[in-house]
Amino acid sequence: MHLELRQLRYFVVVAEECNITRAAVRLHIAQPPLSRQIQALEERLGVQLFERGSRPLRLTEAGRFFQSHALQLLAQAAELESMTRRVGKIERKLSLGFVGSTLYGLLPEVIRRFRAENPAVELTLHEMATVEQIAALKDGRIDVGFGRVRHEDPHVRRIVLREERLVAALPAEHPRLASNGPLSLKELATGTLIVFPKAPRPSFADQVLAAFRDRGLTPESIFEAGELQIALGLVAAGEGAAIVPVGLNPLRRDDVGYRELDDPQLVSPIIFSMRAQDESEDIRALRRLIYRLYREKGIPHFPERE
Ligand code: BEZ
Repeated sequence: MHLELRQLRYFVVVAEECNITRAAVRLHIAQPPLSRQIQALEERLGVQLFERGSRPLRLTEAGRFFQSHALQLLAQAAELESMTRRVGKIERKLSLGFVGSTLYGLLPEVIRRFRAENPAVELTLHEMATVEQIAALKDGRIDVGFGRVRHEDPHVRRIVLREERLVAALPAEHPRLASNGPLSLKELATGTLIVFPKAPRPSFADQVLAAFRDRGLTPESIFEAGELQIALGLVAAGEGAAIVPVGLNPLRRDDVGYRELDDPQLVSPIIFSMRAQDESEDIRALRRLIYRLYREKGIPHFPERE
């Protein structure tokens, strides 16, 4: 039998109390098993720790030596316990920044599955624009960002996970919804285009505006909405049309309809960003989970990179 921490605790209390009965009370155990543990300890060490027959109990010289080292070992064990908990807590925190529209893609499931598979990781969520994510990654407020705007920063690694097709959101009563076939940006340019978010820029709004510009088109008028839900509310109110990622389709409202666009190049990327040198195991686990979900659900995506 090896020396056990439990025996050290028993011994230290008996030595402090100089009395088995009082020590047993303090340790919440019966007296006979406590006496047996002290005897077993003496047998294992092959020395007397207490002087035979002494009342109150007196430590032998070996007993005093053992007592001082047992106290140190117990203190170290307590420190080891609390330090490990602290280190574990510090290292196993993952702060995740996301743009609102990713909530209509795979993000909710990614979060649920990550929490279920990594219960020791404390996951916190922060809604923020892609440009804000870059600053937040660099100053340590977040560890991972999910955004839509391509960015260049030497300290941030950008991984494009997949691209979502864009669709047009129109008021439910709009005559174009009744007609067949995909819509063109040219047709959409003839009315008011509602883009979002208004700030901070560049944002998804600029991706949409660039798509028109790249095709030599200028929307008749542009309305900048603060965020996605406002844009869809304004579409419902008949103020114009918006262009949104196809993932938003499950968010159907009765008063908004969606139409495909005629150009397969009209896509919005979902971008995973992290600090360039961050090799955390938790981040790796998150990335592996995302690709696993893509494979499980048959969602087209870019190849997984190390
Ligand atoms: C996605 O919809 O592909 C996605 C969104 C957020 C995080 C990971 C994946």
